[in-house]
Amino acid sequence: MKATDKNFLTENAFNMRWANVEEGHIPLTAADWDIEASSAVREALTAYLQFNSFPYGNNSGMKAFQNAIAFHFNQRKNASIQSEEVIATNSAAKAIDDVYSFLLKEGDEILIADPVDFLLAECARRKNIGIKRYQQRSNGIDLAELDKLVSSKTKALVICNPHNPLGYVLSKKQLESLSNWANDKGLVIISDEVWSDIVHTEESFTSIRAVNSNAWIVYGLSKGFGLAGLRIGAIIAPNEEQAVLLADGQGYARTIEGASTLSQIAAAAAIENGWTHTQEAVSLFKKNLEQAVIAFNKTNFLSCEMPQGTFVLTVRHPSTWNTEMLCERLANEAKVHVVPGLEKWFGPGAIGTFRISLATTPEIASEGIERICNWITAYGSTL
Ligand SMILES: Cc1ncc(COP(=O)(O)O)c(C=O)c1O
Repeated sequence: MKATDKNFLTENAFNMRWANVEEGHIPLTAADWDIEASSAVREALTAYLQFNSFPYGNNSGMKAFQNAIAFHFNQRKNASIQSEEVIATNSAAKAIDDVYSFLLKEGDEILIADPVDFLLAECARRKNIGIKRYQQRSNGIDLAELDKLVSSKTKALVICNPHNPLGYVLSKKQLESLSNWANDKGLVIISDEVWSDIVHTEESFTSIRAVNSNAWIVYGLSKGFGLAGLRIGAIIAPNEEQAVLLADGQGYARTIEGASTLSQIAAAAAIENGWTHTQEAVSLFKKNLEQAVIAFNKTNFLSCEMPQGTFVLTVRHPSTWNTEMLCERLANEAKVHVVPGLEKWFGPGAIGTFRISLATTPEIASEGIERICNWITAYGSTL
């Protein structure tokens, strides 16, 4: 694994990361890589750039991209999907936005986890779609709790699997019971699987499409392949007809919406020839997480559990501390930036926690973890 050039990161890595923090500070904030992507990506882009020509691609996605996504899910995520069901999107975030726009209307309600990545709520809020939040724990999602949240307005159960920021991965069995429950209630399942390449459990990842043929998948290559800046993701519709309808409704069919061809070339190459690189990255990130879990749990004040997936870690602090103030002091005094567990990032259920991202080198991870532990040890009793 090669670390990304430090100066390059300082100039180019935004979204609360190296380009946004002072010299000498460590950002463990947005979930993005500090290591280079697979060389397969550069090779594929270089080959394509030889022609120095940039024609329109296929509206819903280049065939090579759609095939790569179908292959990826069928071979590595226990799913059974057709390439015609795949739409290339300008990021996973946009995929969430488009699926909501297509399936839901103002006044509808969806069920989402609390906490969970802000995008799942933000994309709903912008369309005046109501949100009801459920808890997700290490043993899954409680169906009795879901029962209580459903009303006549509820249209979809949204799951984030693997879960950001808690790191839970739903097993095939858990997905089956969620699927039965949703079918019973007449709800569609929307599954955000952007983290599905980063799994630490023995059981390999199971996509929702292994158990529910009506579900919609949101996917992206930012987390598993380090392609965040290429803004490349995918919607996987339950069938070709639905994919065509979405492409029409959301403007793909008329070139109003669509993903850059260069990003699709990069994504297809990463999936086809960069999987070993991803697996090496996952084991590096896992070691970083293990180190952090041991170190934080040794302090008198912090606690956390090893995530089953993702490269982020939710760290709990004493409930009497102010989360926002703690994170500000960590940034100013310890020179480590973390994401505070505030409603605007994760929902009300994140209070009392902060999140760190560890898709970085062992050196930066160790330094960041040590700075947090030292600061907490020095000042924890005064907070
Ligand atoms: C659960 C979840 N969904 C979607 C996204 C957005 O991913 P992208 O930046 O590839 O659009 C993220 C990014 O952190 C995420 O954690």
